[in-house]
Amino acid sequence: MKALEGVKILDFTHVQSGPTCTQLLAWFGADVIKVERPGVGDATRKQLVDKPGADSLYFTMLNHNKRSLELNSKNETGKEVLTRLIKECDVLVENFAPGALDRMGFGWEQVQKINPRMIMASVKGFGPGKYENCKVYENVAQCAGGSASTTGWLGDRPMVTGAQIGDSGTGLHLALGIVTALFQREKSGRGQRVMAAMQDGVLNLCRVKLRDQQRLDAGPLKEYSQFGENIPFGEATPRAGNDSGGGQPGRILKCKGWEDDPNAYTYFITQAAVWEKICDVIGKPEWKTDPDYATPPARLPRLNEVFDTIEAWTMTKTKFEVMDTCNPLDIPVGPILSMKELAEDEGLRATGTVVEVDHPERGPYLTVGCPIKLSDSDVEVTRSPLLGEHSIEILRDVLGYSEADIERIGASGAVGDMKPQAAE
Ligand code: COA
Repeated sequence: MKALEGVKILDFTHVQSGPTCTQLLAWFGADVIKVERPGVGDATRKQLVDKPGADSLYFTMLNHNKRSLELNSKNETGKEVLTRLIKECDVLVENFAPGALDRMGFGWEQVQKINPRMIMASVKGFGPGKYENCKVYENVAQCAGGSASTTGWLGDRPMVTGAQIGDSGTGLHLALGIVTALFQREKSGRGQRVMAAMQDGVLNLCRVKLRDQQRLDAGPLKEYSQFGENIPFGEATPRAGNDSGGGQPGRILKCKGWEDDPNAYTYFITQAAVWEKICDVIGKPEWKTDPDYATPPARLPRLNEVFDTIEAWTMTKTKFEVMDTCNPLDIPVGPILSMKELAEDEGLRATGTVVEVDHPERGPYLTVGCPIKLSDSDVEVTRSPLLGEHSIEILRDVLGYSEADIERIGASGAVGDMKPQAAE
């Protein structure tokens, strides 16, 4: 038994933000029916192609454990099938451009009329307001949500991060909204609208930077490196390089081999509680009692000197040796791990966070499994569906259409290729 067993999701999502959300729900046991445009499907199927003819990793890694229904939502028979699906399902998830669902004839009012228990969940770029009609992609959301203005180096351009906080981050927010609405429906008996705007999701993840914006009113942000460098603060939270976002100063420092290996670095936090141990490890026992270094406030104007001295020590060790030395002493450090190292990490494979999946078109590939572990709801990652792979089975088994109906629907052009996919 899985946590969301019995929950049927009508998945109208595409690209990344929506698919991340429905993939999570599928991993928790929901039956996710992905509706895709006949002959085309989710645009990511054929984006960043590495194996000609096969679905891309972009698509496969975001659409595990789902079923695919190839259906033209603008054709009258297609609309008939969709209406049946809306009656049958618990949740409709979509991340179309603003207004697209209304143009299809399946706006919130209409959906509520068809099924008052339906939870209709959407990702949009912006919430209500002057930008509500904009189409939005990942990096736009990172910029509009405050991440880019606070990432990167002081005096340099704003920078986006590799973590897809706009797309996957908003997908996570939406998934929480959906399960919360399902929980409320248990008591209210009603569905509701769930909305996650990418700008809001990114800003939520940048909460500490809005904290710092308000702290600026009380004076310079002393834990930022620029304070020790006597660089005045402006009106807005500045870019802070690799400074830690918390009250304990931290930086990325070079480790042995940094000249040839772009990831031979460690993050190092000068946690106040273990300062004396840090002094011993780096060969500076005199800093334990020196009033210029002994307390966190005394160190703040000297962070460059402090971290240069720590780096002189980390450069004599590999990033893993730094970890092995500091971890037992509770000194918070973390190696900079490359994607190659993570892909090969035995621990992550053992927990199912990195999984190898087989695919009929592309063969075995690696993916990130479910990052949330439930003790009573096991996750088994299965491959993404081929385009329209489950069209017939959904019409027959979920909607109860007869063979004659299925033929009529196929002949109307509402559904794409009606031939069952060859068995693997
Ligand atoms: N059958 C028929 N038509 C279909 C269909 C189907 N099964 N599925 C989609 N379509 C149509 C839509 O109805 C729409 O038609 P319309 O513009 O005539 O109304 C059209 O396909 C394109 O959909 P749209 O969402 O506008 O795609 P796009 O490629 O132009 O824009 C995004 C892509 C991501 C920018 C846009 O969807 C968006 O802003 N989404 C919200 C924010 C978001 O999630 N962004 C991040 C994506 S990772």
